[in-house]
Amino acid sequence: MIVAETADNLRKVMAPWRSENESIVFIPTMGNLHEGHLQLIRVARQYGTKVVASIFVNPMQFDRHDDFTNYLRTQRQDLDMLQEESVDLVFVPDVEEMYPRAVDKMTYVHVPKLSDMLEGVSRPGHFRGVTTVVTRLFSLVGPNVAIFGKKDYQQLLIVRRMVEDLGMPIEIIGEPTIREADGLAMSSRNNNLNANERKVAPRLYETLQASRSRIVHGNLAYAEVEADAMRELQEAGFTPDYVQIRRQSDLLVPEEHETDLVVLAAAWLGKTRLIDNLELSLNPPD
Ligand code: PAJ
Repeated sequence: MIVAETADNLRKVMAPWRSENESIVFIPTMGNLHEGHLQLIRVARQYGTKVVASIFVNPMQFDRHDDFTNYLRTQRQDLDMLQEESVDLVFVPDVEEMYPRAVDKMTYVHVPKLSDMLEGVSRPGHFRGVTTVVTRLFSLVGPNVAIFGKKDYQQLLIVRRMVEDLGMPIEIIGEPTIREADGLAMSSRNNNLNANERKVAPRLYETLQASRSRIVHGNLAYAEVEADAMRELQEAGFTPDYVQIRRQSDLLVPEEHETDLVVLAAAWLGKTRLIDNLELSLNPPD
């Protein structure tokens, strides 16, 4: 496995691959890797001949500075895990390499509407940071395919929209969320939960499942299902930001006939903010 710290190095390693027409699959991450990330790496081989990952804790996408500084950095361990998965190349730039200008002076990419709802309301500027860094990573790496997790459902949709709007010749793959045995979606942030919070945390997924089940069994009063879910989370000890039933294609509030939906939720548990979501499909009316 080759580790490149600069764009220059990355280009040198990848130049022969490009002339040999290797197809490049890219998995961007912020490190502190867990099974959820590794699943994206494991499926990567199905989509191409060279697997490239990146580890970069992106300051532009953190709306709170303490969240950025406290984000767990475990690079040595991450590199061992990637090596184990036979990744070909890992890009580990530092902040100066990714943002040669001050972060607030950089050209940025913003996907309107989709970035301004749900997570975008709770975390202003977050998605602009994501789309800007992903654009820069895409232009440095030049992948044919890039893989993202459905765990960050809105992020996946925003990246798809960006690629479409800007005509980037990259296929975006969305992979299912990997969960702990008790249902909690794997996340670097789970490390911040204390023992008691960790016991409560799976209730987030259980609440999503209960909402899905009510809708699938015919309760189409979405506002009521959302309000009940918010209450359940509160009673379990969360401070919920939102529970929303939206349509899968663009995360807008579903019309009556809509069949492909997703329940999205974000909730604080102590000082940790958790997000999760669950897709559901209704039978189309006859
Ligand atoms: P990060 O949170 O490190 O996640 C990297 C990728 O792993 C994302 O595509 C995310 O959706 C996926 N992922 C995380 N947990 C997962 C799980 N439990 N199951 C399946 N996939 C999971 O997302 C980011 O980094 C950043 O915003 C990034 C795209 C790298 C831009 O900075």
